[in-house]
Amino acid sequence: MAVKVNLTVNVGGIQMKNPVTTASGTFGCGLEYAPFVDLNRLGAVVVKGVTLAPRAGNPVPRLAETPAGVLNSIGLQNPGVEKFIEEVLPGLAGYDLPVIVNIAGETVEEYALLAGRLDRVQAVAGIEVNISCPNVKKGGMQFGSDPAMAAEVTRAVRASTGKPVIVKLSPNVTSIVAVARKVAEAGADALSMINTLLGMAVDIRKRRPLLGNVTGGLSGPAVRPVAVRAVWEVYREVDLPIIGMGGITCAGDAIEFILAGATAVAVGTANFVNPRATVEIAEGIERYLEENGIRDINELVGAAHNE
Ligand SMILES: Cc1cc2nc3c(=O)[nH]c(=O)nc-3n(C[C@H](O)[C@H](O)[C@H](O)COP(=O)(O)O)c2cc1C
Repeated sequence: MAVKVNLTVNVGGIQMKNPVTTASGTFGCGLEYAPFVDLNRLGAVVVKGVTLAPRAGNPVPRLAETPAGVLNSIGLQNPGVEKFIEEVLPGLAGYDLPVIVNIAGETVEEYALLAGRLDRVQAVAGIEVNISCPNVKKGGMQFGSDPAMAAEVTRAVRASTGKPVIVKLSPNVTSIVAVARKVAEAGADALSMINTLLGMAVDIRKRRPLLGNVTGGLSGPAVRPVAVRAVWEVYREVDLPIIGMGGITCAGDAIEFILAGATAVAVGTANFVNPRATVEIAEGIERYLEENGIRDINELVGAAHNE
């Protein structure tokens, strides 16, 4: 008989029944996928980014396929934090899983206000701070690509909430380790990485940029080696749990991230191809542990660093 394996992980104070969560912006507010996926089988859900005021997002087209992923320039379309709390969160509260809310602001103060608002909401298990969105003019990647600014946002959010703070890092930097170090010093409980890689496409028929916003963020299998490298480097230098993401489509991809140093993983673009990807990946990780006689997923975290 197969041994019972432990799949539970703790990410900066958020207890997850397995290491699989959703990548912000690729799973709607969570409920859109409920017809396809039993949400109770996920380790956590990370919802689409919310801002203080509602946002309409960028001009269309906002999505383009690439050979191994997609380019998106959604631009943080969302109903705003108040409507999110009133109309979206109650629907998720009925499920047995931590809800992590991804936030974005145009100023440090906006991040602090958002964190303070969500701090008072019981259904919120943790806050993921998006300082890495490449698709907005103000805020976003501007904060995430400067270690001092990244620290300032983290400090402001830290001061505004007692809930776990996860800071989401951008790969569009010279040294992701330098940003991660500053964010850790500023009081983050965990890191998530990576957000999308800045890219663009040109429509050769129209002889114009393909996306309405000209540039976009690249995600999907094409970015996986970049993301694994980022997790590997940060795991060695910074003592914080990591949610790894970027191109995960199957359990093997998820295990690659865990071996490189991720405590949990998030599934993004794969949800568009296979709406059941998250649950299938959680099941695949469990099978991998059973088949390899590993009793506890935590034994695998960073194991590729062992001599
Ligand atoms: C359509 C789309 C929308 C996204 N929206 C957000 C967002 O609101 N906030 C955020 O932090 N990341 C956002 N992301 C980035 C993803 O959460 C994730 O970091 C990235 O896509 C890499 O993972 P993947 O290759 O598995 O998709 C978005 C990605 C896509 C494709």
